[in-house]
Amino acid sequence: MTTKDSDMFTALGASSLLASLPPRQGFGDATLIRLAPGAIDLGGGNPATGLLPTELYRDASAAFFSGDDFPRALRYSPAPGLPALRAAIAEREGVEAERVLVTNGGAHGLALVALGTLDRGDVIVVDDPVYPLFLRVLDLVGASVVGVPVGADGLDVDALAARLRAGLRPKALFTVPTFHNPSGGTLSAQKADALVDLAEKYGFTIIADDPYREIAFPGTVVPRRARLRESPQVVSVGTFSKTLGPGLRLGWLVVPPALAEHYVRLRNRLDGQSSAVLQEIVTRILSDARFGPALRTAGEGYAEKAGALVEALRTEFGDDVDVDAPQGGFFAWARLRGDLDFAQLFEAAQDAGVTYQRGEWFSATGERPFRGHARLSFSEPEVHELREGVSRLAQAWRALRAR
Ligand SMILES: Cc1ncc(COP(=O)(O)O)c(C=O)c1O
Repeated sequence: MTTKDSDMFTALGASSLLASLPPRQGFGDATLIRLAPGAIDLGGGNPATGLLPTELYRDASAAFFSGDDFPRALRYSPAPGLPALRAAIAEREGVEAERVLVTNGGAHGLALVALGTLDRGDVIVVDDPVYPLFLRVLDLVGASVVGVPVGADGLDVDALAARLRAGLRPKALFTVPTFHNPSGGTLSAQKADALVDLAEKYGFTIIADDPYREIAFPGTVVPRRARLRESPQVVSVGTFSKTLGPGLRLGWLVVPPALAEHYVRLRNRLDGQSSAVLQEIVTRILSDARFGPALRTAGEGYAEKAGALVEALRTEFGDDVDVDAPQGGFFAWARLRGDLDFAQLFEAAQDAGVTYQRGEWFSATGERPFRGHARLSFSEPEVHELREGVSRLAQAWRALRAR
């Protein structure tokens, strides 16, 4: 911050927290993304609206608003969430309802967990590549970040163990255990056990951020990983954003029993509670027998899109692309070979009418820059748009290589 900036913040009465928040950069920064009319957006994390259970919303809302209980939902409601919704989430998660706290979505849950876990200066280990918006959440508490690689079966637990043996003492560890954002891998049961062993031995909290678990493609079975649910060292963060839509703004935390009451106190000092109206509607959707089949249909739809994207990448780039076929989630993580200026490629691709997220924006600390990587989202565009988007990217790439 320049002296002029700091004078301005003082004059406006801003806190040092507000004044010190770094400018937006990279991922999620609308100023870097240029979406011209007709452009294809392979950058976002939206579900396809056509794969959301809109009919279930309509029926649940109609039943709720026409029922006698509706006016009660306009009153203040309990901070941990409506008991029926907590019970329904608890059943899906395989935990006791007392451990479930309803939030306003995943990002809100992450902010609560950052505030509830970390003090200024604490060390936190994160996935590398990492979900970058979690790094922005860390700006709230001023933690110091260490990256550990993630691969096809999740966090590299051996690399973490080696760092711990060498003296690293984190307060917490952040990982996306299922269909990782951005790289797609899923933590195996064996690695989850080893990770929980390390957390228990060295006394750190595992923050398991799991928004994509229910977006599994046909034939993919997500490992049960019981100890991630049972260990008092784990806090997990859930959201309905990928299954019921991010516009809903509802999610949940699963916290250890001893911390539940403390999280309620924290929540009571912030916004107090989530919308009871929306919680009533979601409770009805979860108990609708059509919800399970709707999730399976969504998984099939996303699998088809992922297949089309990966096939287009392989057709257009041949041996010049490395990409694993996703097993679930919303993204493919591709690495383009070649000695080119990938910042220039990003600009050229946008000129050609396609955008995506650059690999370097997912680097935990800048140490591993993910040069040539791109996170390509297949969830929202139609199959023909995915093909056209990849063809535009390839055009830009070929033109740059020919220079
Ligand atoms: C890994 C990860 N965590 C958290 C979130 C935030 O979810 P929400 O939209 O519910 O805030 C997302 C959304 O894309 C995500 O990909």
